[in-house]
Amino acid sequence: MEEVNNKLVAIKGHINGAPAESDFEIKSETICLSLKANEVEVIVKNLYVSVDPYQLNRMKTQSSSQGTINFAAAISPGHAIDTYGVGRVVASGRADLEKGELVVGLLTWGEYTLAEPGRLLNKLDAMGHDLPHHVGALGFSGLTAYGGFYEVCKPKKGESVFVSAASGSVGSLVGQYAKLFGCRVVGCAGSQKKVDLLKEKLGFDDAFNYKEETDLKSALKRYFPDGMDIYFDNVGGKMLEAAVANMKQFGRVAVCGVISEYTGSGKRAALNMLDVVYKRITIQGFLAADFLKDYADFMKTTTDHLRTGKMHSLCDISHGVESVPSAFVGLFSGDNIGKKIVQIADQ
Ligand SMILES: NC(=O)c1ccc[n+]([C@@H]2O[C@H](COP(=O)([O-])OP(=O)(O)OC[C@H]3O[C@@H](n4cnc5c(N)ncnc54)[C@H](OP(=O)(O)O)[C@@H]3O)[C@@H](O)[C@H]2O)c1
Repeated sequence: MEEVNNKLVAIKGHINGAPAESDFEIKSETICLSLKANEVEVIVKNLYVSVDPYQLNRMKTQSSSQGTINFAAAISPGHAIDTYGVGRVVASGRADLEKGELVVGLLTWGEYTLAEPGRLLNKLDAMGHDLPHHVGALGFSGLTAYGGFYEVCKPKKGESVFVSAASGSVGSLVGQYAKLFGCRVVGCAGSQKKVDLLKEKLGFDDAFNYKEETDLKSALKRYFPDGMDIYFDNVGGKMLEAAVANMKQFGRVAVCGVISEYTGSGKRAALNMLDVVYKRITIQGFLAADFLKDYADFMKTTTDHLRTGKMHSLCDISHGVESVPSAFVGLFSGDNIGKKIVQIADQ
């Protein structure tokens, strides 16, 4: 029975503020690459793993997100950390999966995943797309953007849309769906390089660097003099407050995530609820898992758009399991452009 060394990333203790690389450790364990007991059904060699902001909420001592849905469950210090990703089957006790096949699903921040029965893991048909796209635009980021925009924002052609963290994984896709749908789209991001990318490559009508604005309410008024119909919120905090102040009557705010609030509870948005009442604004949170019913439509639409070059899938790839902590920490200072992924092994 072949034995290998499996390196994996774990937190040293709970993280209750901004994460630092020193909060993580790289652990080593010896694993056997053949199945002997039924507690492990499939062994996967991890190829590309996703790095996502929501993991920080799992790393806290306590967060209201942790009890809501399985994938948001608390992470214990010292233990393997689940994440979405693409890998290759090394050994399988499942009738529908064979050694050597590509799979997509819940892997780990490590070199191998020992998948127990019932774990989300499906055979991957790459359909000619590079594997990292199946972690980003064709994975959960894509489904989040697609469902969040079409189902929650309920867009109409010609409406005005504002997207925050617009050069990130979800935001870059939302802006492109909205443009293809026929909306006017403005995005914000944290650097001039990102702003240029939004306007020059992704087709946004306009974009601005929010870090250079001293008054976010007036900045949004400049870009939306008549107000906005839709705000796709990835950041929460002060930007959410400013957006609500600039919504049109019957505007929709889709709250995808509030990354500016993940690093400290003192940063929570304080909305002007009179605006919400008198402008009859709808504010709705959602999770990607709400849109599994739309998965086939999402895949068809998005693979078509990518194949015809109408949409761009941006991947920001680091290499090696040791780079996971810095990749993760970098999300909170805007290091990434597009979907942050770590390539663990060669295909
Ligand atoms: N509801 C769901 O099911 C679901 C699924 C996926 C993601 N999400 C949420 O969607 C949001 C985006 O996720 P993603 O995976 O696409 O990440 P991402 O946008 O690719 O990466 C995070 C980006 O957020 C921006 N950011 C970091 N700290 C910030 C702060 N304090 N204020 C403003 N912007 C900040 C940075 O860009 P800048 O340089 O522009 O600051 C950074 O690059 C997150 O809130 C995430 O939790 C929700």
